[in-house]
Amino acid sequence: MMRMTLSVFHTLAIAALCGIAGAVGAQSPADAGRGRGLYENHCTVCHTAKVHSRVNRLSMSQAELRDIVDRWQREEKLRWSAQDISDVVEYLNRTRYGYGAAVR
Ligand code: HEC
Repeated sequence: MMRMTLSVFHTLAIAALCGIAGAVGAQSPADAGRGRGLYENHCTVCHTAKVHSRVNRLSMSQAELRDIVDRWQREEKLRWSAQDISDVVEYLNRTRYGYGAAVR
């Protein structure tokens, strides 16, 4: 009976782990609200979001914006996931850059 209980537990544990692995692997649609939190926590040390609306801004496309965000998170050693980067790009895209299509 004990053996049986353990084996059921084992099966459930593996199912739970697979569930977690699945959740990490799959990227959900970019979440601007979450991106805003990440941005405000880590990126407003040096500049406010106004830097993204200045006349001679650096970013000219959504791809370029993503590159710059990725460069900054590396610079800051934040180890952001692709999802984190997408969320911040979506936040900046919506609030400052307006490149249109939602970030994937
Ligand atoms: C150590 C200070 C510092 C930190 C921290 C920082 N930035 Fe910046 N960022 C700058 C400076 C300075 C510029 C302007 C660079 C220039 O004009 O060449 C800039 C410019 C940018 C731009 C380009 C704006 C434009 O002109 O379109 C983006 C995008 C950006 N930062 C995103 C981020 C993100 C995302 C983070 C957080 C991960 C971050 N930055 C953290 C200093 C910083």
